[in-house]
Amino acid sequence: MTFKVQRMLVTGGAGFIGSNFIAHVLEKYGAVRMVCVDKLGYAGNLENLSGFLKSEALGFEKLDICNEAGMRTVFERERPDTVVHFAAESHVDRSIMSARPFVESNILGTQILLDLCRQFQVQCMLHVSTDEVYGALSPGQAASLETDSLDPTNPYSASKASSDLMVLSYVKTHDFPALVTRCSNNYGPYQFPEKFIPLAITNAIEDKPIPIYGDGLQVRDWIFVRDHCEAIWRLITHGKTGEIYNIGGHNQPTNIEIARQILTMLGKPESLLEHIKDRPAHDRRYNLDDAKLMAETAFKERVSVAEGLRHTVAWYVKNEPWWRRVKSGEYQTYYERQYVSRK
Ligand code: NAD
Ligand code: DAU
Repeated sequence: MTFKVQRMLVTGGAGFIGSNFIAHVLEKYGAVRMVCVDKLGYAGNLENLSGFLKSEALGFEKLDICNEAGMRTVFERERPDTVVHFAAESHVDRSIMSARPFVESNILGTQILLDLCRQFQVQCMLHVSTDEVYGALSPGQAASLETDSLDPTNPYSASKASSDLMVLSYVKTHDFPALVTRCSNNYGPYQFPEKFIPLAITNAIEDKPIPIYGDGLQVRDWIFVRDHCEAIWRLITHGKTGEIYNIGGHNQPTNIEIARQILTMLGKPESLLEHIKDRPAHDRRYNLDDAKLMAETAFKERVSVAEGLRHTVAWYVKNEPWWRRVKSGEYQTYYERQYVSRK
């Protein structure tokens, strides 16, 4: 399919990947009207979009996707031809402490969005999912394929697997034009510093310990966030609706190796590594086979982990005020300062 996007609605666009995606599309492709819907939960930071908010090309609505009436108003006004669905509770550790918000945003929110997309005859809905739905791989086990069975092990991945199945059920039942993408671990600018890489970078800058769960030998398939964004764009414009696509980073470092690289880049000592109690049901390894993505969209360019980490570390060093505002909680007043105080 070759599809010309004109009006795109992005859910969760004030979060890490969503804000990088909006920047990527506006900077690289332009000529697309975008509207971002985000409830600005703890992980939503409008400052991530500050470079684009004054542009006519981007609209913003502070809204929960579970608010069906509010969402209908946005669909009526914007009439999107494309919806890219990032909005979700995304942190595994939080889902272990409390699963309910994951069921609400990730499952119920997706179902509400699907019905509105159908009603307003959206031509392409891309549901952003995760490699976590396949569950853990043992050492030496082959990389996960789109056809593999699902085996989520924590409430976050169970909620994402449920939302994938809901989307795929609409494809089958209603001939609904959706794609499901399953990406591996993202890293890069604007990632909330509860996630491993930005937590390690910002703690190291502050000479604070870097928490390493268990032995630190867990393996993730790290992808630089802008590579994920480019793959999503290629799939919207050249992928096939009704299909699932893996998007991987093509590397397999252990967590401890990543932490050591960060310390070396910042000139900090290894004594900052602090092994702590492991995460319950901690998936040992993920690895994705994304040959289908590469064959169908010619997507191949990927930043290496060494280069992507250097770029990311440099970004956090340069943008210390951004992450200090996040860690202090000050970022949560950005929306009020931009919008409410002017009314
Ligand atoms: P994030 O937590 O940084 O951002 C999520 C955004 O969604 C936030 O801005 C939040 O306010 C918003 N949101 C949450 N619930 C909402 C609701 N009910 N209504 C409106 N807005 C809501 O997450 P992220 O890392 O950017 O992940 C984005 C998507 O990509 C998620 O669906 C996640 O499952 C998926 N994903 C993430 C990764 C990763 O490594 N981070 C990898 C694969 C897939
Ligand atoms: O695989 C894709 C998934 O990657 C996404 O679907 C999730 O939204 C995203 O949060 C991420 O999940 P992880 O649990 O893999 O990411 P996190 O950054 O929390 O942890 C990465 C690895 O580092 C994991 O093995 C747990 C470990 N870790 C994490 C933290 C926060 C630590 O050792 N110490 C920590 O303090």
